Amino acid sequence: MLKSLLVTLASAALVSAHTVITYPGWRGNNLITNETFPFGMQWIYPCGGMGTSTNRTKWPVTGGTIAFQPGWFQGHPTAFIYVNLGFGTDGPDHGPKNMSNPMSPPFQIVGPSKNPYPGTVCLPQVPLPAGANVKIGDNATIQIVELALHGAALYSCVDITFSDPNDPDLAEVNETNCFNSTDIGSANIYTQIVTPSGGNVSSAAQRTLKGSTFTLLGWLPLALVGLWALV
Ligand SMILES: *[C@@H]1O[C@H](CO)[C@@H](O)[C@H](O)[C@H]1NC(C)=O
Ligand SMILES: *[C@@H]1O[C@H](CO)[C@@H](O)[C@H](O)[C@H]1NC(C)=O
Ligand SMILES: *[C@@H]1O[C@H](CO)[C@@H](O)[C@H](O)[C@H]1NC(C)=O
Ligand SMILES: *[C@@H]1O[C@H](CO)[C@@H](O)[C@H](O)[C@H]1NC(C)=O
Ligand SMILES: *[C@@H]1O[C@H](CO)[C@@H](O)[C@H](O)[C@H]1NC(C)=O
Ligand SMILES: *[C@@H]1O[C@H](CO)[C@@H](O)[C@H](O)[C@H]1NC(C)=O
Ligand SMILES: *[C@@H]1O[C@H](CO)[C@@H](O)[C@H](O)[C@H]1NC(C)=O
Repeated sequence: MLKSLLVTLASAALVSAHTVITYPGWRGNNLITNETFPFGMQWIYPCGGMGTSTNRTKWPVTGGTIAFQPGWFQGHPTAFIYVNLGFGTDGPDHGPKNMSNPMSPPFQIVGPSKNPYPGTVCLPQVPLPAGANVKIGDNATIQIVELALHGAALYSCVDITFSDPNDPDLAEVNETNCFNSTDIGSANIYTQIVTPSGGNVSSAAQRTLKGSTFTLLGWLPLALVGLWALV
């Protein structure tokens, strides 16, 4: 299964970085470039050109595992990864109204070289977004965004139904489907405020500015300053 995905990836993704969600499931193969999607399907917001699926996969109502292959990197070995959730089916295409609910802090993946390579990243216990109010049986969509070095974003989704964490239908998580390939590293992303915006900066930022040296703040919107050093 994994092997065939890798082959699909190798043969289809000739243009740029792409994402295949290997756990808990995937809307389907969107590694396609054709006349309808001349730049490739995966660039299309919010789910890489794939419509909402009817074959939803169960996922624990307490949060759970998400694994993906960040894909094929030609000429740019790093990318930023965002994992979001959209609630319900009241939005366009019977999917969520929006995908504006982050599930994990964004992070950077760092590949071994500028050459293309396969590999898997697994987040074993991704929590629900802050303030989520869901129950068993509710539907939602998990979106993985891969932000390429040049600023363009690739999208992939899996449609889920929240289930009891002990539901026997949940696919077992083990070292076969949840592992980090050794050749893909990861890095945290921080904001370093260099110039405050015109208005009132937050108290945390003010403290940083008063300290005036290299203080790292974990959770502000990303300025991504200083990461070029890794390229
Ligand atoms: C749903 O069906 C599509 C099309 O057969 C398949 O590509 C996809 O992997 C399936 N998704 C899940 C979560 O089973
Ligand atoms: C391109 O691929 C998508 C996904 O398979 C398909 O829906 C669409 O019809 C294709 N377009 C053409 C022109 O073949
Ligand atoms: C969740 O999705 C499934 C499959 O698409 C559908 O049958 C079910 O009615 C949906 N449940 C809710 C609460 O919308
Ligand atoms: C996103 O959708 C949720 C409902 O799922 C809604 O409560 C929220 O206001 C929406 N947020 C934005 C920014 O549209
Ligand atoms: C891991 O779990 C999957 C089902 O999610 C199963 O197919 C596979 O055999 C398991 N692997 C091991 C080593 O137990
Ligand atoms: C894989 O790496 C990510 C990012 O560093 C980390 O959060 C996760 O726990 C790792 N997964 C495993 C299975 O060790
Ligand atoms: C900025 O916020 C502080 C405290 O919240 C307030 O005292 C001050 O007047 C504000 N300054 C401006 C320019 O709005």
